[in-house]
Amino acid sequence: MKIYRSALLRFADDGQAVYDSDGLLAVAPDAQGVQRVVAAGSWQALAPQYIDREGVQRIDLPGRLLAPGFVDLHIHYPQTDVIGAPASGLLPWLENYTFPHESRFADRAYADGVADFFMDELLRNGVTTALAFATSHPTSVDAIMTAARQRGMRMIAGKVLQDRNSPDGVRDDTEQGLIDTETLIQRWHGVDRLGYAITPRFAPTSTDAQLRGAGELAARYGDVWIQSHVAENLDEVAWVKQLFPESRSYLAVYDDFGLMRERAVYAHSIWLDETDRKLMHDTRSAAAISPTSNQFLASGYFDYIKADEAGMLYGLASDVGGGMSFSPFRTMQAAYVVGRESLAKQGLSLAPGHLWWQHTAGAARALGLQGVIGNLQPGCEADFVVINPGCTPLLARKTGEARNLDELLFAMIILGDDRLIEQTIVSQAK
Ligand code: GUN
Ligand code: ZN
Repeated sequence: MKIYRSALLRFADDGQAVYDSDGLLAVAPDAQGVQRVVAAGSWQALAPQYIDREGVQRIDLPGRLLAPGFVDLHIHYPQTDVIGAPASGLLPWLENYTFPHESRFADRAYADGVADFFMDELLRNGVTTALAFATSHPTSVDAIMTAARQRGMRMIAGKVLQDRNSPDGVRDDTEQGLIDTETLIQRWHGVDRLGYAITPRFAPTSTDAQLRGAGELAARYGDVWIQSHVAENLDEVAWVKQLFPESRSYLAVYDDFGLMRERAVYAHSIWLDETDRKLMHDTRSAAAISPTSNQFLASGYFDYIKADEAGMLYGLASDVGGGMSFSPFRTMQAAYVVGRESLAKQGLSLAPGHLWWQHTAGAARALGLQGVIGNLQPGCEADFVVINPGCTPLLARKTGEARNLDELLFAMIILGDDRLIEQTIVSQAK
C-alpha cells in the first residue's frame, strides 16, 4: 500500500467538490493488479490507521494537489497533427484537411507513431481516460489500443464507419466496415482496461444500411460504447435534413437506427430542440461538450441551461483536432468563457467545481463509469494527477492568495495549462 500526504480533491455523488487541504490518499493493488483507492480524506482523521503499518510506503507531497485524472469525452487521435487547420466551417475543414490527413492511417507504422505521441501527450496533460475516434482503417484501432495497453490506460476507441460522402482513402465498404467493427470488438473490448466504441462518423457519411448494421451491433454488444457527432453546425444540420427526410430531427436519425442508449456519446449536441433533449435524457445518451472546437470552427455553443432542464448527461471534451488544445485547463477555460456569453444574460456562470467535475467525475458518469474512474473515492481505480499550483510565478501568487476552494480552482482554470501537471499516475502502469 502507498499513502500520499498532500492537498486532495475529489467529488461527492451529487457532483460537489470535496477538498482536504491536508489530505491522505491510500492506494493498493486489487487481485488483478489494478491500483485502487482504499481511503481518501483528511490526514488528521485517517493517518493513525495507516502510518507506521508494515508494508505501507509513505509519500509526502508538500505544496501539491492530488486530483482525479481527467476524462476527455471526445477526441480524435488521428487529428493530433490537424490542430490549427483553418477553414470557414466544419464541412470545408473535413474535406480540405481532415479526410486527406486521416487517409495516412492505412499505414500501421504511421498510425503507431501518432498513437504513441498522442498517448504521451494525454498523460503529459493529466488525461487518463479518453473516448477516442480512430480512422476508418482497422489498423488505426490496433495502433491506439496497443499504445494505451502498453501504458496501462483505460481507453475507449473505435474504427470510424463512413461508407458514403467520403473520398477514396477514408471511405469504407458498408458490409466490410461492420465486419471489421465486430472483429475489433472481439479483439479489444474488455482486454485489460480497454473498451470499444461503435463509431459512425456522423449521419451524412453513413448509408442507411451502415447505420442499421451499427445499431444491430449496438444491440448485440450492450456494454460496448457508441460515439458519433450530432448537430454541430447549421450547414451540417441542413444536409442531414436532405439526406434523411423521414427522421424528425438530426438526433432522431440515430434513434431511428437504434444508436441511442446508455454508453452512447454524441459530440457537440449544439443545435438540438426540446424533443431532442428529452430523447437524450430518456435514452441516457450523453453529450460531449467541446468548447475550444466550437470556437475554432465557429459552430455555436452548448446550452447548459436547457441541458440541465432536460436532465441530460454531459461532460467536457477537447475534440482535438477541431479543438485547440489537449489541456483540460484550456477546455475548462473555454467552457467558462463561452458560458459567460450564453449564461450571463440570466445572471449565471459556470462554477469552477462544476467545470472540473465535467472533465472528471461528470465525464465518467456520462460514460457509465461512475465509481470506476474520474474520482478518488474509495473503490475507484487510482488514476490521478499531481498538480503543482505554483508552477508559474503568476499561478504561485494567485493560488497562494486563494481564500477558498472556488478561488483556488478558478485560478488554475483561468491561468493553467500543461505546466500544472507535475505527474500523471495510472492505476495499471506497467
Ligand atoms: N463531424 C464529422 N466528423 C467530424 C470531425 O472529425 N470533427 C468534428 N469536429 N466534427 C465532425
Ligand atoms: Zn469530433
